[in-house]
Amino acid sequence: MTENIRKMLVTSALPYANGPIHIGHLVEYIQTDIWVRFQKMCYPASAGHQIYYVCADDAHGTPIMLRAQQEGITPETLIKRVKKEHQRDFTEFAIIFDNYHTTHSTENQVLATMVYERLAAGGHINRRTIKQAYDPVQEMFLPDRFIRGECPKCGAADQYGDSCEECGATYSPTDLKNAVSAISGATPIEKESEHYFFKLGDFEGMLRDWTTAGHLQSEVANKLDEWFRAGLQEWDISRDKPYFGFGIPGTDEKYFYVWLDAPIGYLASFKHLCERDGINFDDFIARGSKAEMYHFIGKDIIYFHALFWPAMLHGSRLRTPTAIFAHGFLTVNGQKMSKSRGTFITGRTYLDNLDPQYLRYYFAAKLGSGVDDIDLNFDDFTFRVNSDLVGKVVNIASRCAGFITKRFNGKLSSSVHLPVLLDEFTTANSSIAAAYEQREYSRAMRKIMLLADKANQYIDEHKPWVLAKEQGTDDQLQSVCTMGLNCFHQLIIYLKPVLPIMAEQAEQFLNVDALLWKDCETPLLNHTINEYKPLMTRVEKEKIDHMIEASKEDLKSSSRTPLPEGKDFITIDDFAKIDLRVARIIKAAHVEGADKLLQLTLDIGGETRNVFAGIKYAYAPEQLEGRLTVMVANLAPRKMKFGVSEGMVLAASGDGPGIYILSPDAGAEPGMKIK
Ligand code: 2FM
Ligand code: ZN
Repeated sequence: MTENIRKMLVTSALPYANGPIHIGHLVEYIQTDIWVRFQKMCYPASAGHQIYYVCADDAHGTPIMLRAQQEGITPETLIKRVKKEHQRDFTEFAIIFDNYHTTHSTENQVLATMVYERLAAGGHINRRTIKQAYDPVQEMFLPDRFIRGECPKCGAADQYGDSCEECGATYSPTDLKNAVSAISGATPIEKESEHYFFKLGDFEGMLRDWTTAGHLQSEVANKLDEWFRAGLQEWDISRDKPYFGFGIPGTDEKYFYVWLDAPIGYLASFKHLCERDGINFDDFIARGSKAEMYHFIGKDIIYFHALFWPAMLHGSRLRTPTAIFAHGFLTVNGQKMSKSRGTFITGRTYLDNLDPQYLRYYFAAKLGSGVDDIDLNFDDFTFRVNSDLVGKVVNIASRCAGFITKRFNGKLSSSVHLPVLLDEFTTANSSIAAAYEQREYSRAMRKIMLLADKANQYIDEHKPWVLAKEQGTDDQLQSVCTMGLNCFHQLIIYLKPVLPIMAEQAEQFLNVDALLWKDCETPLLNHTINEYKPLMTRVEKEKIDHMIEASKEDLKSSSRTPLPEGKDFITIDDFAKIDLRVARIIKAAHVEGADKLLQLTLDIGGETRNVFAGIKYAYAPEQLEGRLTVMVANLAPRKMKFGVSEGMVLAASGDGPGIYILSPDAGAEPGMKIK
C-alpha cells in the first residue's frame, strides 16, 4: 500500500520582493496551481498522499536594497510589505500554496550556509580577484543593469550594461559608450575585489547525464546541449557590500549573490512547512529520496535551474529535481506587455476589474507543455470565456436546476436517462487526466468543451422547458434534468483544477463533498440538490477597457519611477538625502601648487569643514572671508592631492568663465538646513 503513496514537492519561481505580481507572472502561478490541484484531486491527502506546493518571495539583491533606499525604508520593511501584497493577490487568484515564505528567513540562511559549506568542503568554490564597474559616488559595485550608456553596436542611447533593447546586441558594460551609473549618474570606474566562484565545470559529467535523463522538456535539453558546447563557466556567487543578503561565512563582508540563495528558498519554504506541520523534510530532500520534486519556471531562468541548481544540490549531497517545467512568456494583444499601452496589468488592477477565473480559464485554454509564448488577446478572451464557460458549462446547470428544485423538491431521479452519453463523459476522464498530467491544458479544455457541447445538444433535443409545460411528462422531465445535471457534475470535476471557486459553488449547489477526480465514476442519483445560484457572469468589454485605462493610470500615478529611468528625475526622498547647510566662510586661502583651487574653512554651526573649491580665478580669498554660502554637508569626504575635502560649496556657472557662489538672504545663520 505505502508504495502507492505519492510524495510530491512542487514549486513556482519565487517573485522578487520589489514589485507587484502582474499578469505575466500569473501564467506560471496559474499553470502550477492547476497542476497541483489536479494532482491533489487524484491523490488526496485523505488517502495518505503528500503533495505540497510551496513558494516564497525572493527578497535579496541590489534592486531590492536600492528600492528600499529610494522609498526611505529598510529592506526588511519593504519585503514585509511586498510579501503581504503578493500573498493577497495570489489568494484572490485562487493560487493556494501550502506555504509561502521569504528567502530572507532563518531556514534559508541555515540551508544556504549548509549548501555553501558542503560545496566549499568538496573543493567546488574558488576565489579570485576581478575588476568590475564601480560607482564612486554611491560607493558600490554596479550590476550590469545599473549601468546605462550608448550601445557599442548601433549607438542607441540609454541602453543597459549587458544588452541593447534596440538591436538586441549583448556585450559587457565596459563596451558601452559614455557609460553612467543609473543610480548616481556618475561615470563608473573599474575597481578590483575578490569574488567567490562555484566551479560548475566540476559537475559537467553529472550534468550531462542528468540533463539527458528525462528531467527536462526536449527543447530545453537541446538548449543545454548548446551551453555544454559553449563550455561551463565558473559562476560568481559573491557580492560586495553594500548588499542585502546573507553574509558568506568566514568572509569579511562578502554576501551570497541573490541567485545562490533563491532556489535554496524552495527548500527553506518547504522546511518551514515541515516544521509547522510535522512533515519529514529529509524524506523529500535527502539524496536517494523517493519523493518527487518539480519546479515550474519561465524559460528565461533555465540556466539557473537546469545547470546551477542540480549541480548545487548534487554537490551538497541532496536530491536533484524530478523535473523542471519551463513555460514561455506572455504577450498581450500580440505584443510585449507595455506600460504605455496599458497592457502591463498588475494582478491587483486585474482583480479590481475582472473575475480571476476568467484569466485562469483563458490561460488554461492556451497553455501547452512547451516553451512557446502565449498571447492574451482580449477579444479572444471575451469570446472564449463567454462562449465556453457562460454559454456552455454554466448554461447546462441553469437550464436544468430550476425544474428539479421547483417541481421535484430538489430531488434527482434514480436512474440515468441516456447511459451511453454519461459513459462517454466518464470514459473521457482518463484522456483529460493525461492531458492535465502532461500540462497539455489546452488539450484538456478542448476535450471538456466538446463534452459540454454534447450535454447542450442533449438538452436541446430533449427540451425540458417543453416537457415542463406538457401533462404527464413529469418523470421524463426529472430524468432529462437529472441527466443534464450529471453531465454538469462531470464537467465541474474536470474543470475544478482550473475553476476552483466556481467548483466550490457548484459543490454547494450539487450538495456534494469537495469533489475528487474519482467522483466522475459515481453519478448523482436519488440525490437532493440545493437551489441554483448563478455561477458566473459574462465578461463585459467595458470592464476590460476600464482595466486597460486603469493600467495606464497606474503608470501615471506611480510617483516612483523605476531606477534605471530615474537618471533624469530624482524623487523627493532622493532630494531629502542631500544635507544642504548655510555655512560661513571663516577662512579662505590659496593652495600651493593648485591652479584652480581655494581652500575654504567653513563654519556650519559649531562644526568646521575643510573644503577645496575650484573658484580661484573668480574670487580673491579676502573677498570670501566672513560671507555666508551654502554647502553640501554630507558629501562623502574626498581625498585630494592637497588634503581631504569635506563637502562642496554651491556655485552657479553658465557657458562663460564666471562662477557665482550662492548666498542665503540676510538673517540666515551658519548651520541652518536648506529644506
Ligand atoms: O527571475 C525571477 O523572478 C527570480 N526571482 C526567480 C527565482 S526562482 C528561484 F530560483 F528562486
Ligand atoms: Zn544596439
